[in-house]
Amino acid sequence: MGVHEATKRNFGAKLILSLKNIGRSETHWYLICGDYIDCLCFISIDCGSNEDYIDEQTKIPYISDKELIDTGIVKTVSPDSPRNIRQHAKNLRSFPQGTRNCCTLRPEQGKNNKYLIRARFFYGNYDGKNQTPEFDLHLGVNEWKTVSLTNDVPYGVHYDIIHVPLMDYIDVCLINTGRGVPFISALELRLLDNSIYPTQGRALTRIMGYDVGRNPSDSDVRYPDDGYDRIWNPLLFDEWIPISTSSTVYSLGSDNAYNIPDVVLRTAAKSQNSTTPLSLYFSPPDSLSQCYVYFHFAEIEKLENGMQRELTILLNGERYLAESGSSLKTEQAIMGERLHFSIIAAEGSKFPPILNAVEVFVAKELPNKTTSIQDVEAIVEIKKLYKLTRNWQGDPCVPRENSWDGLHCSYIYTIPSIISVNLSSSNLTGKIAPSFSNLKAIESLDLSYNDLTGPLPEFLAQLPNLDTLDLRGNKFTGSIPEDLLQKSRDGTLVLRSKNQQYSYSEVVSITNNFETIIGGGGFGKVYLGKLKDEVQVAVKLLSPSSNQGYKEFQAEAQLLMIVHHRNLVSLVGYCDEDDQKALIYEYMENGNLHQHLSVKNTNVMTWNERLSIAVDAAHGLEYLHNGCKPPIIHRDLKTSNILLTGHMQAKIADFGLSRIFATESDSHVYQASGNFSKKSDVYSFGIVLFELITGWPAIMRGPEKNTHILDWIYPIIESGDIQSVVDPRLQGKFHTNSAWKAVEIALSCVPPIASQRPDISQVLAELKECLALEMTNASLATEHNIAPSSIPLETSYLELESDIAALAR
Ligand SMILES: *[C@@H]1O[C@H](CO)[C@@H](O)[C@H](O)[C@H]1NC(C)=O
Ligand SMILES: *[C@@H]1O[C@H](CO)[C@@H](O)[C@H](O)[C@H]1NC(C)=O
Repeated sequence: MGVHEATKRNFGAKLILSLKNIGRSETHWYLICGDYIDCLCFISIDCGSNEDYIDEQTKIPYISDKELIDTGIVKTVSPDSPRNIRQHAKNLRSFPQGTRNCCTLRPEQGKNNKYLIRARFFYGNYDGKNQTPEFDLHLGVNEWKTVSLTNDVPYGVHYDIIHVPLMDYIDVCLINTGRGVPFISALELRLLDNSIYPTQGRALTRIMGYDVGRNPSDSDVRYPDDGYDRIWNPLLFDEWIPISTSSTVYSLGSDNAYNIPDVVLRTAAKSQNSTTPLSLYFSPPDSLSQCYVYFHFAEIEKLENGMQRELTILLNGERYLAESGSSLKTEQAIMGERLHFSIIAAEGSKFPPILNAVEVFVAKELPNKTTSIQDVEAIVEIKKLYKLTRNWQGDPCVPRENSWDGLHCSYIYTIPSIISVNLSSSNLTGKIAPSFSNLKAIESLDLSYNDLTGPLPEFLAQLPNLDTLDLRGNKFTGSIPEDLLQKSRDGTLVLRSKNQQYSYSEVVSITNNFETIIGGGGFGKVYLGKLKDEVQVAVKLLSPSSNQGYKEFQAEAQLLMIVHHRNLVSLVGYCDEDDQKALIYEYMENGNLHQHLSVKNTNVMTWNERLSIAVDAAHGLEYLHNGCKPPIIHRDLKTSNILLTGHMQAKIADFGLSRIFATESDSHVYQASGNFSKKSDVYSFGIVLFELITGWPAIMRGPEKNTHILDWIYPIIESGDIQSVVDPRLQGKFHTNSAWKAVEIALSCVPPIASQRPDISQVLAELKECLALEMTNASLATEHNIAPSSIPLETSYLELESDIAALAR
């Protein structure tokens, strides 16, 4: 087999290790192992501990895991456990719920550094069942070890692994494999020097660490003797002769980073004589395990003056190539069912071989790639922001069988990514997390039925692959971003759009107990309100008298909330609690057009403002008629339903309401016929236009009879006196040509036969022309320094036609 051939190639080369007498060095050569790592580079977590403490034996501070993990339950081992168990073994955290539970380590030094990670398990019959569980231990997204406690050793087990994470954190996860409840007693992390124990993109499990020659009844060596807190168990075979020194031992320069503890090097074993080898047998977990063996040597005997000890190492009877120095490691992985190392005296060397310490590692491939770092950071941020208590642990997508609830991932590319997030009914509060914008591959986002507030962020429209967005059942404010609506209109995004339901008590608080009335109408009074985010709103409290037709209220309100246009007043929410119904609209600072045109208003609107308002209103109506599917017929368009922003931008209000209320209480002065259609809205629009031109209301109430504006205006128009048609309050400050054009447009809207009226889109186009005419006139007037209305109609009209044509080119 190829593998074995590759292994073989390491053999046969002659290797002689020379050891100089390096003991008893002068003071300035001292390198005291363990001193330089006195540091922040340890993380020691006692899982299940209630408090932080300093371990008596090692003086290492251990912290409780209570702030680090939000799942699992704390347990205490049985009092029958051995008395002298270590503090960190006394409590544990067990995970009866969830398939995967993880603890996240965040070393200060972050990614691309080398760490020794140790997980400790001591069952101690904590659950009184006397039945040790078996479960899987994962290092991030990859399998590390099956934790098998079936032969529960009196002091538990620990697993050590050396790992260079590609992210700033390391997840250690326990996987329930159906053979008992996973638990963990302690978790430790130690920073290593990056130059030692090369990992080559894999992890190394440390399966043995022996301090050779140490008295087997002595305790293990670890911190503070070992600066990296490696654990060294005593090892001495019967036929080996233990040797030791009380002096400080130092390692050869190039290997200093390994920092083998002084106490470990101070003891060693040698064979009986130079013809007898030191033999070590070792069985890897399986014949394909790639093993790395590190031998550590230091001369601790005073040899005859100037003499030195020379060694050769054989593997399965052949010479074994290894790195020279005081530490010897196998350069390439060695494999086999049984590995037999012999350390022998080199030819001609009269000193028996020695060995001070030995370590064995097994390489652990890390085949699973983690989810895209950007996605992980985003979703972790989202989890944190919304304080999600669901069992979102470890990597969101990997391994596939443990991917997070509510997420779907794509595994097509080498790096898995999140393509769908479903946080429906998850009690989310606050705004839509900005982190969602970093989920670049997301195709579907369901945030429905939460308590989300604030405006809809623009970034939702920038997510390139988003095709489904469900925002129903939240409390968003403001309007839907135009780009998002555009995507929804052109069919690239399914927008379950926002939906804002308020309770009656919320309506009471929004309106400060209905403190300020700002309007009224057939359906009820309108109150000023303020949402939690200080946004002002107008709350229309529907009067109980219009009770019929309430059946469809909610469905209609939801429908209206998806209608958004800059010239339509947005419905931002509604209340539907028994008989209490309210509609919550964006607040319009400048009231309605009816108020502005009223004779009581001393602040007369200019001709230009009137034309702009007419264009705005036509835009809004055009959107209702031609931009919505099915079209929305307003049915009650009038000046009091045209509202004005602080910048005198007009928006149509109350559209679609008549549909909610089958029985109308409003009188329909604007309606020529009972058949509601687009054309009846156009008629109403014509009347509004006449009101704008003349400043007169649609119905003039007289002492004897009321006069309809059309009955009044027709004879005046026929007389051809435009000055008598236009609102006298303008004092002639308008251009006759644009005024005539406006009159013509208004006239075109009001023929008694509906089919003779134009579509609103045509009206809009004409009005835009009319406005352009007025603007060009105004600029011409400024240029020639003449009073606006003094330009003769005939000439200026012709000239301007060509100017407009030129502008259009
Ligand atoms: C070396 O030790 C071995 C085993 O103890 C023994 O059999 C052998 O005779 C010794 N050889 C010499 C030269 O002392
Ligand atoms: C999200 O989950 C809810 C509840 O499990 C489900 O009703 C809904 O259809 C899911 N949404 C999507 C977009 O799959």
